[in-house]
Formats: sequence, C-alpha cells, structure tokens
Amino acid sequence: MTPREILKVSPIIPVITIENAKDAIPLAKALIQGGINIMEITLRSDAGLEAIRNVAKEVPDMVVGAGTVINTKQYDEVCEAGAKFVISPGFTVTLLQHAVSKDDIPLIPGVTTASEIMTAVEYGFDTFKLFPANIVGGVTLLKAFRGPFKDIKFCPTGGITMNNMDEYLKLDNVLCVGGTWLTPKEEITNHRFHNIVKFCEKALNSIIVC
Ligand code: 3PG
Repeated sequence: MTPREILKVSPIIPVITIENAKDAIPLAKALIQGGINIMEITLRSDAGLEAIRNVAKEVPDMVVGAGTVINTKQYDEVCEAGAKFVISPGFTVTLLQHAVSKDDIPLIPGVTTASEIMTAVEYGFDTFKLFPANIVGGVTLLKAFRGPFKDIKFCPTGGITMNNMDEYLKLDNVLCVGGTWLTPKEEITNHRFHNIVKFCEKALNSIIVC
C-alpha cells in the first residue's frame, strides 16, 4: 500500500503503547469490531515489537503499523515483524534514504516545519505525520501549509481528541488523525476491550466532516 492508501483506511488511527504483547490481539479485534481496521503500535514499550508481530500473524484483517520508529535498525525490525507501515515522530535523512532504498513498507515521517517538508520532498516523500500537532500550530499551521505545499497530505497527531478531530478532518490536506484517546492504557491492561469497541463506535459516529 502507498502512504496515502494507508492514511485513507480510517479517519482515525489509534496510537497504542502496549505493555503486554498478548493484549495486542484482542485489542486489534476490538478495534475492528468498533469499525477501525488500522492501528499504530509504538516502540515506546519493550512489548511493542512483539505486539506488532502478534497482530500481523493473528489478525490479518488489521492494517498494523509501527510507530515511534526513530532509526534504521528499528525500521528493519518492524518490517521483519510484519508491520505494514512505519511512522516516525520526526526524521533523519539516513532514515529517509533507508526507507527509500527498501521501498517495501511505506514510511510516514513526522514533520513540523516547512524546511522539513522541503527536505523530505527531495527524497520523494509527500505524505507526513504532523507531530505534536496541537503544540506546533495545529489547524492554523496546516491551513498555512496549504499555500506552499498544495500537494502534500498529513496525518496530524498529538493533542487530538474527539473534541477537536473534526476541525482537522475538515482540512483538505488532512487524510486522517491519530491519537491515543481510543485505547486508554487502563482499559487495555484490565482487558476491558468492550469499552474500546464503544470508544471506536462513538468516535466514528461523531465525525461530522462536510
Ligand atoms: C503520537 O505519537 O501520535 C502521539 O503520542 C499521540 O499522542 P496523544 O494522542 O496522546 O496526544
């Protein structure tokens, strides 16, 4: 899949940090039941890599990606584990070059500035994570980027919830938003996956984009 196809799978990408790799399987099934068949599992915990592997193997309908990938070693590890896409909070040119040379699993690099977009465009990238969206300028910044970067698309994450996601989803340069609010840590560790199904349904039903 291309980065844009990835970001069009669902208007919301749950960003998940998982403590027990086994929990990733019922979590992935709950997300699908709630209507979301894409998830970003971060490498912010030791269980992240194994969690990606588990979902890739056991829940084939889930488009599972890896998040918080910050170097080429991690990029290779998550690809080997079965990640279908890779997201990084920022980028290094080394990471961009590595992803281009592999050309198998799409990298969606994080950006916050015009210069970063210009640099990554030089390496063939046109689809980015904006992170941390609410801190670096949010909706106002994305509107400003429409002028110079009319062909560039974003997935903003960081500080996005059900209360403000619509303002982002309305923008024509935003393909989807990402966030942690659909998958609270306490619901996962206490195995309250039915609540996660409800959070997904509520979030999807509340999207009013026109
Ligand atoms: C990310 O990496 O996308 C962010 O950590 C999301 O964070 P938040 O939704 O909790 O603000």
